[in-house]
Amino acid sequence: MKIERVIELSKEKISSMMWNFGGSTFDEKSTKVFLDDKKNYLVVAEEGGKIIGILRGHYFPRFDIKKASILLYEIDVHPEHRRKGIGTKLIEKLKDIAYEEKVPEIWVITNKSNTAAMQLYTSTGAIATHDDDIVLEYHI
Ligand SMILES: CC(C)(COP(=O)(O)OP(=O)(O)OC[C@H]1O[C@@H](n2cnc3c(N)ncnc32)[C@H](O)[C@@H]1OP(=O)(O)O)[C@@H](O)C(=O)NCCC(=O)NCCS
Repeated sequence: MKIERVIELSKEKISSMMWNFGGSTFDEKSTKVFLDDKKNYLVVAEEGGKIIGILRGHYFPRFDIKKASILLYEIDVHPEHRRKGIGTKLIEKLKDIAYEEKVPEIWVITNKSNTAAMQLYTSTGAIATHDDDIVLEYHI
C-alpha cells in the first residue's frame, strides 16, 4: 500500500475512487481543475492500482504571523479497508506536507457522534480548542 500526495490522476484511478465518498462523482475535468490548484491537497492510499482511501485538504492563507492553516476537508477509507491504519497514515502525510510548507495548523470539522472520526483525529494529535463550536451554512 502506498500513501502519497497526487498532482494528477489517470482515468482508471479516478474510476477506482468512486466506491461511495458520500455519493460523489468525479471526472477527469473536475479532478484536473482541483489538482491544478496547488493550494488543494489530495492525499491517496493506493493498493493494486486502486485508490482505497482519500484525504482532501485546502490551504487557507491568513494575514497574521501564523501565515496559513490547512483545512482537512474530508477523509474517507474504503469500508473493506478500515481499521488498518490507513486513515492515520493519510493524516500523518498531511502533517508532513504542512511541516514542509511551514503551515503551523491543520483544522478539521466533524460530528461528536462520528466515533471513528473523533477517535482517528484525537489519536493523531488533534485537540478540540472550543467545545461550543457550531457550523452554520449560507445556501446561495
Ligand atoms: C474515519 C475513517 C476515515 C477512519 O479510517 P481508518 O483507516 O479506519 O482509521 P485507522 O485504521 O487509522 O484508525 C485509527 C484509530 O481511529 C479509531 N477508529 C477508527 N475507526 C473506528 C471505529 N469504527 N470505531 C471506533 N474507533 C475507531 C481507533 O482508535 C483506531 O485505532 P485502532 O484501530 O488502533 O484502535 C473511516 O472510518 C471512514 O472512512 N469513515 C467514513 C467517512 C468519515 O466519516 N470521515 C470523517 C468525516 S469528518
